Amino acid sequence: MRKKIVAGNWKMNTTISEGELLVNQILTLKKESQPEAELIVAPPFTHLATISKLLQGSGVALSSQNCADELSGAYTGEVSASMLNAVGCEYVILGHSERREYYGETSAKLVKKVKLSLANNLTPIFCIGEKLEEREANKHFEVVEEQIKEVLFGLDPEDFAKIVIAYEPVWAIGTGKTATSAQAQEIHKYIREVLAGKFGELAQNTPILYGGSCKPSNAAEIFAQPDVDGGLIGGASLVAADFIAIAKAF
Ligand code: PGA
Repeated sequence: MRKKIVAGNWKMNTTISEGELLVNQILTLKKESQPEAELIVAPPFTHLATISKLLQGSGVALSSQNCADELSGAYTGEVSASMLNAVGCEYVILGHSERREYYGETSAKLVKKVKLSLANNLTPIFCIGEKLEEREANKHFEVVEEQIKEVLFGLDPEDFAKIVIAYEPVWAIGTGKTATSAQAQEIHKYIREVLAGKFGELAQNTPILYGGSCKPSNAAEIFAQPDVDGGLIGGASLVAADFIAIAKAF
């Protein structure tokens, strides 16, 4: 049985007090409705220490949205994987399309980030996905295959077994446009085949999350697909009731 996961990527939203309120609302609703999916929240760096304490014993896991590609030292403005582990993070989102697009995140950097994360007991939620023009040119399979090969194929099987993948078509992120459940299943199945080509049976256990305008009204149909194991949720994760409704959509 693959793990089912619903992760909230808060991006650069909420002040610390808004973040505390949101987490407390999520925890209250979670207690009432007991969703079967594992819940993860990924607030901004400034919130992690505080929210880590709020989450203790709750069963909701903490993630960061990025980490440095170096271990420690003179890298002004960066936050290392070991610091994130020490503050209570279990997960780290890596390779989000916004980081690739706006902050020059390359596969070479992501290789380092994935390895440092794993070495510091953080589970990478590794994001892949094509842009609109790539989908329109029918290149989406090629694009995700490249993204996977360049970063994950160098891992040994033991490390690969810890990876979570998030497929997020760039044209669906924050646009209100969602992939259809058939489009999601088609490419999730392909992603699993690419992973199986390298790592064999281990790929059957890799959670592959869908992300991109996922909301309570469309989550159930997408999550019902056999190769979709949950979601990476942006906008809708900022509303506790929507986040929990998505988590209950399995
Ligand atoms: P969205 O973002 O749900 O707001 O489209 C998803 C993401 O970027 O992780």
